[in-house]
Amino acid sequence: MSAPAKPIILVTRKLPAQAQARLSALTSVTVRQHLSTAPISHSALLSDIRGSSALICLLSDKVDSELLEAAGPQLRAVSTVSVGYDHVDTQALKQHNVRLGYTPDVLTDATADTTVLLALMASRLAKAALAKAAKGESAFTLSEGLGSQFTGKTLGIVGLGRIGCATGRRLLPFGFTRVLYTGSQPHSARAGALNAEFVGFHELLQLADLVCVCCPLTDRTRGMFGREAFQHAKPGSILVNTARGAVIDQEALLEALDAGALAHAALDVTVPEPLPAGHPLLCHPKCTVLPHIGSATEETRNAMANLAIDNALAAVLGQPMPAEVCI
Ligand code: DGY
Repeated sequence: MSAPAKPIILVTRKLPAQAQARLSALTSVTVRQHLSTAPISHSALLSDIRGSSALICLLSDKVDSELLEAAGPQLRAVSTVSVGYDHVDTQALKQHNVRLGYTPDVLTDATADTTVLLALMASRLAKAALAKAAKGESAFTLSEGLGSQFTGKTLGIVGLGRIGCATGRRLLPFGFTRVLYTGSQPHSARAGALNAEFVGFHELLQLADLVCVCCPLTDRTRGMFGREAFQHAKPGSILVNTARGAVIDQEALLEALDAGALAHAALDVTVPEPLPAGHPLLCHPKCTVLPHIGSATEETRNAMANLAIDNALAAVLGQPMPAEVCI
């Protein structure tokens, strides 16, 4: 009699080295993997998922009814290697009785570090200085290319979740004298540690010198930084986004930068990702863009991938997932 077939886990990307070695050594499941650093095409995903019991995917992989139907009824879980899951249709998952794993906590420090990196790059006009250095030009003048500093300023955090709090903890020692935050509701325990005040979105924009966007992308936050919002921005303020590109209306942002409503925008996330070469945001002197490297450290990416593997294995065995989204 032949042994029962092992459950299949489809993995849509090459994992970081340590987690990849662990995945490759698994014997209790069959791993089907798109062993590339580039995203899998949607058509390949639709055909490769057939017969899988779990899917380990990234935020570039759209998970919807079509994909769940292509997988077949044996699919137990989608395990995304990300904390954000706006690429997943959670209603469709619910209808198909498929569980969702994600990777909270393990990327908090790396993402908050990136937020600080962008805040400092923006405030110290690093984009222009790097361009000068690359051309062998001096930026050492007493009167030009001068940035600003955070001492005595007001910090505004949009979304005081794990990453928002970690960002606040890192930025406070730079000398901010006031911390404001906004979101769907006040979080008094988290805010207490930062001595942060809960305010409305527009009030935060009016008062904050540095605005850090740390909220998830939801129906409520999509496009929240639009033309109206930018009319409330404090002149000379800096906007940093390490959340999701779609929280910001990029056309409205360009207008705000051109009109001088903001001093600088620094973005780790955009729509689309990556932005095509020559995109106005990439060329704008008041905009610094990173290609979504928020969680891109060796330690964090391995921790994310390992948690995603743990989530997928647990689901395949019908056990509680270490990090499951309640859908
Ligand atoms: C996430 O996990 O949602 C991040 O955006 C990845 O860096």
